[in-house]
Amino acid sequence: MGISQNFILITAWLLVGVAAACSNGECRLLDECSSDQDCEAGLYCFSCPQGFSGSRCVRSTISDQFKLLNNSLPLNKYAFLTTHNAYAIDGYPSHTGVPRVTFTNQEDNVTQQLNNGARALMLDTYDFRNDVWLCHSFKGQCHDYTAFGPAIDTLKEIEAFLSANPSEIVTIILEDYVQAPKGLTKVFTDAGLMKYWFPLTNMPKNGQDWPLVSDMVKNNQRLLVFTSIKSKEESEGIAYQWNYMVENHYGDDGMKAGSCSNRGESSALDDKSKSLVLVNYFGSIPMKELTCEDNSGNLINMLQTCYGASGNRWANFVAVDYYKRSEGGGSFQAVDTLNGKLLCGCDDVHACLPGSTSRACSS
Ligand SMILES: *[C@@H]1O[C@H](CO)[C@@H](O)[C@H](O)[C@H]1NC(C)=O
Ligand SMILES: *[C@@H]1O[C@H](CO)[C@@H](O)[C@H](O)[C@H]1NC(C)=O
Repeated sequence: MGISQNFILITAWLLVGVAAACSNGECRLLDECSSDQDCEAGLYCFSCPQGFSGSRCVRSTISDQFKLLNNSLPLNKYAFLTTHNAYAIDGYPSHTGVPRVTFTNQEDNVTQQLNNGARALMLDTYDFRNDVWLCHSFKGQCHDYTAFGPAIDTLKEIEAFLSANPSEIVTIILEDYVQAPKGLTKVFTDAGLMKYWFPLTNMPKNGQDWPLVSDMVKNNQRLLVFTSIKSKEESEGIAYQWNYMVENHYGDDGMKAGSCSNRGESSALDDKSKSLVLVNYFGSIPMKELTCEDNSGNLINMLQTCYGASGNRWANFVAVDYYKRSEGGGSFQAVDTLNGKLLCGCDDVHACLPGSTSRACSS
């Protein structure tokens, strides 16, 4: 056989080999794929040139720690995937009649985000058109060309999820510009969410543990809402975020490797009078093509850095853009790692299962 014949044979074998390697829902993590249907449940077919060649199956869903283990611990012993600007979604239809000229931070709608395991949503709320809208802004002002839609549409998606999933807890973190008196109370009421409201009076203010998740579920107090406007605790009974939570810098300031410090509104990360820790990890300007790398190893490294900065506390909330973009495990693996650390001192929540033979545990 001549060299060229050999070459053709080998090339043909490689092509067949790759094409036949897996298909029909049998491809596993990082196997090559040509469509989402090739990948196992919980994975989808994605391309991240920084991480791997071609298209491969990467994770698309979280491991639900309550179903995998149990929900008998205080809320602050668990970690939750958080979508930054959860409402700023590619292709979200214009609700103002004016084409939108602003960036997006997510690709899936809020129902999909929740179904895939996001349990905290960051939303920006504004007074707009005599209502509360979700919007990107310039100087606290919503415009026709930066508006996404009325908040009630998104809140109703959250209501539908809470109603269909009676054991799940959802947290809403508001960058809040609503000045209308009781504006938020009205829209949460209209969306049917007050019946899930977790009352301010049950939130620990001096570093105590939160109530047990099992009790929150039993009492149906499964919605936590935090606002960035301090006076709303007094006026509307809506928790002021930084009375309960510490948070690192967001945007590029939060992505400097090896450094993790509090954003201005938050007390120092190691202030243990706040029982919850939130880590932001996304760029100031979302750049889709870079996100799969950000959401992978760099994110895990930052969680480790912020653990140290927070007085040896693992994050409860980890906020990312384009949450499904990764080099394999991405934000889902990051949350599995956090839950492993929080629940049993291991690198992955699966290692907490009784009988797990996994190594990688510090205790
Ligand atoms: C969310 O997206 C899914 C998949 O495209 C679609 O079936 C569903 O109707 C959407 N839901 C909402 C509320 O937009
Ligand atoms: C729930 O899971 C945690 C973490 O694995 C464990 O420490 C605890 O004993 C479990 N509780 C029950 C009631 O099974």
